[in-house]
Amino acid sequence: MKTTAAVLSLAALSAGSALKPRQSSLPSVEVKGNAFFAGNDRFYVRGVDYQPGGSSDVADPIADTDGCKRDIEYFKQLGLNAIRVYTIDNTADHDECMNALADAGIYLILDVNTPKYSLNRADPNPSYNTDYLQSLFATVDKFQGYSNTLAFFSGNEVINDPASSAAAPYVKAVTRDLRQYIRNRGYRTIPVGYSAADVAENRLEMAEYMNCGTDDERSDFFAFNDYSWCDPSSFTQSGWDQKVQNFTGYGLPIFLSEYGCNTHTRQFEEVASLYSTDMTSVYSGGLVYEYSQEPSKYGLVEISGSDVSTLPDFDALMSALSGTPPPQGDGGYNSTGGASGCPAYSEPNWLVKDDSLPAIPEGAKKFMTSGAGTGPGLAGAGSQNAGGASTGTASAGSGQATQTGSSGSSGSSSGTSAAGALRPTEFSFAPFACAAVVVVSSLFGATLL
Ligand SMILES: *[C@@H]1O[C@H](CO)[C@@H](O)[C@H](O)[C@H]1NC(C)=O
Ligand SMILES: *[C@@H]1O[C@H](CO)[C@@H](O)[C@H](O)[C@H]1NC(C)=O
Repeated sequence: MKTTAAVLSLAALSAGSALKPRQSSLPSVEVKGNAFFAGNDRFYVRGVDYQPGGSSDVADPIADTDGCKRDIEYFKQLGLNAIRVYTIDNTADHDECMNALADAGIYLILDVNTPKYSLNRADPNPSYNTDYLQSLFATVDKFQGYSNTLAFFSGNEVINDPASSAAAPYVKAVTRDLRQYIRNRGYRTIPVGYSAADVAENRLEMAEYMNCGTDDERSDFFAFNDYSWCDPSSFTQSGWDQKVQNFTGYGLPIFLSEYGCNTHTRQFEEVASLYSTDMTSVYSGGLVYEYSQEPSKYGLVEISGSDVSTLPDFDALMSALSGTPPPQGDGGYNSTGGASGCPAYSEPNWLVKDDSLPAIPEGAKKFMTSGAGTGPGLAGAGSQNAGGASTGTASAGSGQATQTGSSGSSGSSSGTSAAGALRPTEFSFAPFACAAVVVVSSLFGATLL
């Protein structure tokens, strides 16, 4: 397979052991305009949220090889191509599960935060610090080598009401830093974006904000959690028609990072809308909340010990998905894409005073050139009060990649596939750096295309 050859050649160039040869032949997913593509094909997320044990059990389901392989059989029955995982242990090994997922045609969308290494929405500045970013970057290091790592979530529901919108600059700064880290380390341009809570008062502002300003500060996609379609319902009754209208012209891919209202019996009637041309010009699918039955009763299966039994919602989702192939062609996506304007300060719903962002914490700058090193894992002391916080305001363009590959010991020595996903406007920012990327990537062009 051509993709395998490209992956192997990258791995062979790697200086350290961080990148091992991967057998997976899944093509990596890229952003083009407001859509995802796997090769020449439009890619729609058809997934579930996967956190067996629930949000209160801080465990890494990708490190649980037996559980992972058991559950992949159910993912296949559902016809999924993606799962979302909320927490991983960045000291654990993930090879076996990730490769088994790839063999099943399944991509991973990963939250890089963990409960102890996350922003504090009530007092974000101290929590945006060196130890925090070290953990996030170490997670990126662990997952960047898998071709089926689809995307990273830089945060999940940090803003969960009008007042917490004041923390939005920190979410945006973290997104900027992750993107810069990925580029500086010479990794594949894995998309980075934020997963927003379903907050009607500032959902649109948050989306615009994450896609405004200089290119180094803009996300690669936007996602939000949505429980507004409660069966029996319809495209118009649920208000999804307005969510298409209001986001028409938005320049990034959007998908639903959680959906599946359970106030009534779930038939998953929304699936037929989500993957129809009613929505595909703006939306790229979504993730059903959630795979396993937990106290909130959104489960598709019941896990008991090592046994899995399917619930009625499993059959309903399976039949909805199997009855809903993706639209023919490109689904009417917008190939141009582009930046949004920044939303204006507006009490009480949008409390971001200006468009400046906090500067990367001084102590975290070294990770950009020498790598993050070993992560703290789930047993680490936690970062929220670790000190080493950001001081001052970033200058525009500060998140631009300052190198295209790593001179450090653990990274890849090539800057290859970054070029394909750079937005055209980014070329005007750093013409020399980008020209170098083009040269490097043209060396690999034959194997990548
Ligand atoms: C869409 O935008 C209109 C006008 O700004 C607003 O009143 C409405 O609440 C929005 N609908 C949704 C679902 O966001
Ligand atoms: C495509 O996206 C660009 C940039 O966001 C926007 O200006 C344009 O109106 C969009 N076109 C359509 C047909 O939505």
